[in-house]
Parts: sequence; structure tokens; C-alpha cells
Amino acid sequence: MSAVLPAGPMAGAVEETTIAPAPDWWQSAVIYEVYPRSFADGDGDGVGDLAGLTARLPYIAALGVDGIWMTPFQPSPQVDQGYDVTDYCGVDPLFGTMEQFESLLAQAHALGLRILLDVVPNHCSSEHPLFRAALAASPGSPERGMFHFVQGRDGQTPPNNWQSVFGGRAWSRANPDSATDLDWYLHLFSAGQPDWNWRNPAVGDYFDGVLRFWFDKGVDGLRIDVAHALFKADGLPDSPSEGGVVDGLRSNPQVSDQEDVHEVYRRWRTIAEKYEPHRLLVGEVNLEPARAARYTRADEMQQAFAFAFVKLGWDPEAWAAVGNELEAARLEHGAAPTWALENHDIVRSVTRFGGGELGGVRARAALVALLGLPGAAYIYQGQELGLPEVEVPVEARVDPMWARGGVCRDGARVPLPWTENAALSHGFSLGEPAAEPWLPQPADWGSHAIELQEQDQDSALNLTKAALELRRQLWKNEVFTADDGGSWRVEAGNLLICKRNEHFLVAVAMGTEPVRLPAGTVLLTAAPLEQDGWLQPNNAAWVLR
Ligand code: GLC
Repeated sequence: MSAVLPAGPMAGAVEETTIAPAPDWWQSAVIYEVYPRSFADGDGDGVGDLAGLTARLPYIAALGVDGIWMTPFQPSPQVDQGYDVTDYCGVDPLFGTMEQFESLLAQAHALGLRILLDVVPNHCSSEHPLFRAALAASPGSPERGMFHFVQGRDGQTPPNNWQSVFGGRAWSRANPDSATDLDWYLHLFSAGQPDWNWRNPAVGDYFDGVLRFWFDKGVDGLRIDVAHALFKADGLPDSPSEGGVVDGLRSNPQVSDQEDVHEVYRRWRTIAEKYEPHRLLVGEVNLEPARAARYTRADEMQQAFAFAFVKLGWDPEAWAAVGNELEAARLEHGAAPTWALENHDIVRSVTRFGGGELGGVRARAALVALLGLPGAAYIYQGQELGLPEVEVPVEARVDPMWARGGVCRDGARVPLPWTENAALSHGFSLGEPAAEPWLPQPADWGSHAIELQEQDQDSALNLTKAALELRRQLWKNEVFTADDGGSWRVEAGNLLICKRNEHFLVAVAMGTEPVRLPAGTVLLTAAPLEQDGWLQPNNAAWVLR
């Protein structure tokens, strides 16, 4: 790792972290995604919780990020690890109490960290009181009108051909044993996650209340789960795609990207802007750039993840093509891309980029590149450690997607290794005695431990910190600005270049031979340069011109 600061104004010390008063703080932000189950276990029951996260907040603050996105901790039967909510305004006892959340929020703010929560508006839990009431009510009742209850075609066949994102059909019988109740209910995910009917205005009103509840508490923003799928095509027609397969919701125009959904985000933006500073809305909008960018128009969300980029392999042409598409979308709609390489749903980048040492080197280069790109960025817990995807033993897998025949996402969710020593689940548990962690940690987990990486100047952790610190200084010194755009190209030797503005570019050597870097001062590289002006394969550089 090498971080070289040029002499002059940028060489100054980094300012104390505080919550910036700027209303547009999110434009330059880097947010750290915490999957609370797997971050730190305060009470030693094997599941991470609010007490554990609170105790470990200084670690996150020391990374130099601007905030935390917490995946769901609200009351839930945990069919989909909390993405099946029974009470949107509560805290599941598994994770702690509301008082603990309030204390977490206050301590995070005191450390200069903003807090974003996950809101899951497409579906709730089948244990949600409103869904329980709907099941108990009769077909055609207002209670059923909150969800998609539809009579099957002939009592046996579901209303249409849609398939669940997790595999299998997207419909279950309301009362499988009843001869008179022939309704089915829609669930784009598991049967334990019924979809809300957003064509019913009562659903919108209900969620307005959820937003206000958390914003009133001082929560800084919300990540919106499956944000593009709330509205389904009128009449719920069959999907034209083969077998009604939803395929990440993208290829089924009946359940994805309906025009009506934008009205929801206009309304939510109005609510978010009633608060000072304005609250942030960031969407899980799993669509191609041109469509996803429509969710970040001036009066909708401020951010939507650049999903087209999230899953790319080590392929410079693909990076450049997606980068330029995102830039075209930015020019049309005005919002910079929101970058991520990892989250709790996808295979860790180390493994995606080839696994082992090669994957590790590439994942570092990719992270350095990402943090230099114009726009906000999200880092998923463990990415800063270069954690690989874990091959979780089949008998230990709990992901409902796996159970329904889809891929298994547990490998990116294994509890973090804090200590080299395996005691207390590698320091994941802060309470004693510590129960087995909810997903088993692999035998070599200690080699990635935070305590080791903190001591090692060349670790992925220290590289991440250096990049974040330099990024902050470049923003402060206006080398980075909110108006920057990305101009991407691939040069001879598979050198990927993203020119951010007249003064700054990111270069990634994605070929097999060393390549000459464009002229300028090299501010940061993912691995030390072996020869001045030349970038070795799988290294990345920030160049000031
Ligand atoms: C989102 C979440 C994922 C969850 C799904 C259903 O994609 O990130 O973890 O399973 O929505 O809520």
C-alpha cells in the first residue's frame, strides 16, 4: 500500500470528524453497510446485536466513513434474516431494545457517523398483524385489499405464472384447507413475505408513518429494499418471460419498474426534506443504468446503487461500458452513481475476482478504484478486510433463497473475525459464555482478523483507511467536487481509465503485463509501484494531473 500526499494544501492533517451541516452531505459520502447479525454479538447468544454494534462503533469511525447502513433489526420471524418484518417501528429482542437503538444512534452521531436504516416496503412478514388480519378475513374484504389476494384460475392453479425471486412460484394459497376460500396471495420472495398492494392508498399512508417515526428519532436516512418492484402491472397479467421467471425482477416487466412507483419516491422525498438536515433515500433499484437513474431525479431519491456495476467480473471493457452508461444517465438525470462492489446478497469481490491471492489483490485494486470514482460509495462489512466468500457447509445454510432452490447468500454473511484466536468466535462475541455463531466461521478465519490487520501496514484494512482519508482530503481541497463525471476508456494493455475531472483520474491495470501510467502525480496505489510510472497487473492508482 502506498499513499503519497503531494506537498501543499492537501498535505494538511485530516480534520476532526463531525456531522457536517451541509444538506448535501451524501454526495461525497462513503457508507459502511453493517449486517447486524454478523458484526458483533454483545450478549453472546451467537447472533450479532445492537449492543455489539454500539461497542464496536469506534472501529467504524476509525475507518473514516461517513455513516452506517444497518440492515433490518425490526421484529421479525427471521425467515429472510429480518427482511420479513412484523413491526416496522420496533426492535426485535434478538437484537436488543429501542433504548439500545436510541443509545446507538446518539453514540454514532457523537462519533460523526450518520445512521441509515433499511425499510422494506415491497413486502412484510406473513406474521405481520395486518397480514394475519387479512388471512382471517374473507375474500374481497378491505383487510385482504392491503395485499394481493386473488382467486386462482380454477381453485388449484395460481392466478398467474409469476415465479418467486427465490425460486418456485410467487403465490401461496391463503387457506389451503378451505373449500370456499380460493384466494392465493402474492409473494415475490418467500411465502413468509407477502407483497403489499401499493395500489391501495392505505399502504402508502402506513409507510409515511414508518418514515416519520424513524426520521423523528433522528435517523439520517433509509435504504429502500427492492425499491423498483412495489407496483405490479394492473390486472397482474402473466409474465411474457419463459415460465414467469422473475430473474432479479429485471426481466419481468409486470413486477418491475412500473411508472406509478415514482410517485411514492416523490412523496418520500417531500417527507425527507421536511427534516434538517434532509434525510437521505438510497434505493435498491436493480435495473440497468438508464432506468435506475430515473429513480434519482431531482424530486425522488438522492441515491440508487449502481447495480450494473456491482456484479462485474475482472473485465475492463465491461467496466468502461457500464461506467459510460452510468455517466450518460447522470448527464440526463443529474445524480452521480452510487458505487458498491459488495453487499449481503452477493458473492464477496475477492472470490468474484478469482479467489485466493489473485482475487485478494484485485479486490483491493477494485476498492481503491471505487473510492476514487465520482459519486458516493458503500462498503460492506468485511470488504475492508478482504474477506473471501465462505463455502458454508450445506447443513449449516439458512438462506431461504437456497432453501427454495436459488443460490446461497450465507457465504457473504459469516460473522466477522475480530481476533486471530478462535475464542469467543474470533472475538465476534463480547459476552461469555459465547454460543456458536449463527453461521459457522471457517478454520482459517483468524488469518483475516481485524486485530492482525490493524498491526499490518500493508493490510487491506489499512489500505482502506488510507484511501478514505485521502478521499476526504481531496473533497476538502476541491480536487473532488459534486459536479465531477466519469469518462471511461480502455487503453492498450487493458489499462482501464476513469477520468474524473481535468485534475484527477483512476487507473486499473486489468491485463497481464505492466502498463505505463498516464502522466501525473501518483497519489495512491493499491500495491506499491515496482517501477515509477508503470502499473503492474491487478494494481490501481489515483493520478493527480
Ligand atoms: C433485498 C435484500 C435481500 C432480501 C430481499 C427481500 O434484495 O437485500 O437480502 O432477501 O430484498 O427482502
